Amino acid sequence: MDWKEIYNKRLVTPEEAISHIHSGDKIVTSFGCCEPIGLEKVLADHYEDYHDVQISNMLLIGDTIWVHDKYKGHFSYNSFFASKSSRKAISCGDADFTTCYFYEIPTVLREVIKPRVSIVSVCPPDEYGYVSLGTNVDYIESTLSYCDLKIAQVNKYVPRTHGKALKHVSEFDFFVNIDEPLPEVPSAPLTDVEKAIGKNCASLINDGDCLQLGIGGIPNAICEELKDKKDLGLHSEMVGDGVVDLIKSGVINNTRKNTHVGKTVLGFAFGTKKLFDFIDDNPNVEMYPIEEVNHPIEIAKNDNVISINSCIQVDLQGQVVSDTVGLNQISGVGGQVDFVRGATMSRGGKSIIAMPSTAKHGTVSKIVPTITENSAITTPRNDVNYIVTEYGVAKLKGQTLKNRARALINIAHPNFREELIKTFEERFDEKF
Ligand code: COA
Repeated sequence: MDWKEIYNKRLVTPEEAISHIHSGDKIVTSFGCCEPIGLEKVLADHYEDYHDVQISNMLLIGDTIWVHDKYKGHFSYNSFFASKSSRKAISCGDADFTTCYFYEIPTVLREVIKPRVSIVSVCPPDEYGYVSLGTNVDYIESTLSYCDLKIAQVNKYVPRTHGKALKHVSEFDFFVNIDEPLPEVPSAPLTDVEKAIGKNCASLINDGDCLQLGIGGIPNAICEELKDKKDLGLHSEMVGDGVVDLIKSGVINNTRKNTHVGKTVLGFAFGTKKLFDFIDDNPNVEMYPIEEVNHPIEIAKNDNVISINSCIQVDLQGQVVSDTVGLNQISGVGGQVDFVRGATMSRGGKSIIAMPSTAKHGTVSKIVPTITENSAITTPRNDVNYIVTEYGVAKLKGQTLKNRARALINIAHPNFREELIKTFEERFDEKF
């Protein structure tokens, strides 16, 4: 059958599409900039027709409607990455959270959660009948191979990205046309602290290195410091706007990679229209499923991989907490450990955890004698290579407990060093 015939037959109203969802179903949706918000809203509007439907996805930029009180008993929410709008519900048990490494999420979905329904955002079909999953290929791509019901919100604002983002219309059961601008993650102006962290991280990056950049303001600060580097590569679960100018200017050209030579490899894009326009129909940017992008063995196939991620707290042994404060789920593991391990396994690779030295407007130190009670360790001390703050670089790999503590105290905020030194001297019974 001609693809247009398939497409036109399967193009239905939102109401028709959601009538195929049943009470008791588990649904997985795209997240971030490609969350199918328009279709989700229609589903939420019909909440009285549904009972015990579970929605799973990852970091949402705007509201998490599924945690609203009114939907209790109708919809429940199971997140892989808490956002500002779902943290409270997860902490008090109104929503739940699945913790696992990002590269494992496709397997956890397929083998443990087993959603029957997949709802994704796609761009309109091209002349050959292919739509694209846009900014998000990550865990959602594989759901098209095992979910019984695959519904695509066709949105003209979704960029037509390449790699495994391209899917033939025959792979979906229903299409619903809802055009709406994508949610954006704006970049705030860089603070002096972020600029100093950017400089300290850049001091660890050499020409030809292959980068992974995590989430938050720090990646943009690092990108600002890389303008004079040469032949950088990019193989990253995600990127924000910061990389666009580096790729356009040729600083990132991917020529020294061992895999996907000449191509930027991503799992998802998390930025603004600047980034969406850049990845739209750009053959140099390839989007792949997260089980490929984030698998530590895949990551390690490139030499000189530098992974840069952030965290909430580090203790004096170098244990890293990145997604909880006590029992409160702040964010998620994401691909932090995937890339820390991949970078460490890569020949010449380095993993960097970069963070401001304080949180809560300078009132608490992120470097602490012991981790806050009940917080979960995200990256174990044995995996950590470097910790960076605005005050410098602490190299922890291969270091003794005393040397780790010394290095970390030296990059703590001066307001907290005295207290940390006291802990050091009591613990080790020797002068700092
Ligand atoms: N004690 C108490 N609260 C703390 C804290 C600390 N030591 N450090 C951070 N927080 C709070 C902040 O106050 C903020 O709370 P708010 O949102 O209510 O204001 C919240 O935690 C997030 O901190 P913030 O500094 O705004 O985060 P960020 O946007 O710079 O992101 C991480 C930092 C660590 C949360 C983020 O990098 C992350 O989730 N990392 C884990 C996953 C990962 O690295 N994945 C790889 C790429 S996806």
